[in-house]
Amino acid sequence: MNTSSQLFELARQVRQHAYAPYSRFAVGAAILSSDGKTYIGCNVENISYPCGSCAEQGAISAMIAGKSKEISQILILADSQELITPCGACLQRIKEFAAPDCEILLANLSGIKKVLKLQEMLPYAFEAPEVGHE
Ligand code: THU
Repeated sequence: MNTSSQLFELARQVRQHAYAPYSRFAVGAAILSSDGKTYIGCNVENISYPCGSCAEQGAISAMIAGKSKEISQILILADSQELITPCGACLQRIKEFAAPDCEILLANLSGIKKVLKLQEMLPYAFEAPEVGHE
């Protein structure tokens, strides 16, 4: 199985664990990190709506907890005929751990519909050099 079909299958499976009783829109995400590991996440909503988290957010947290440092590919999957894309906040979250050529794979249940690079989706990401890094 190639890496994109592996990510597709992981996202398809984890989507089934999404907690989305409010929107009823279940999303799965799967990351391939630059060190060759895979990580998954699903959306987790909350009765206090802004407290909910996106699938991408969960997958990124899992990656950091797993000690990987960089996203090489991230696949996002929902049961939608419209192309589902990461929200603006998640693009910024992805950007924190990804190079501009990081691949974002957009999928629905029937397969991967589009592959875009992070720089195409977020060409003017917030990066303030005066904000301190460790
Ligand atoms: N959602 C994600 O998890 N990822 C996306 O890329 C888009 C939206 C979630 C948030 C919310 O739980 C539901 O989908 C409807 O917006």
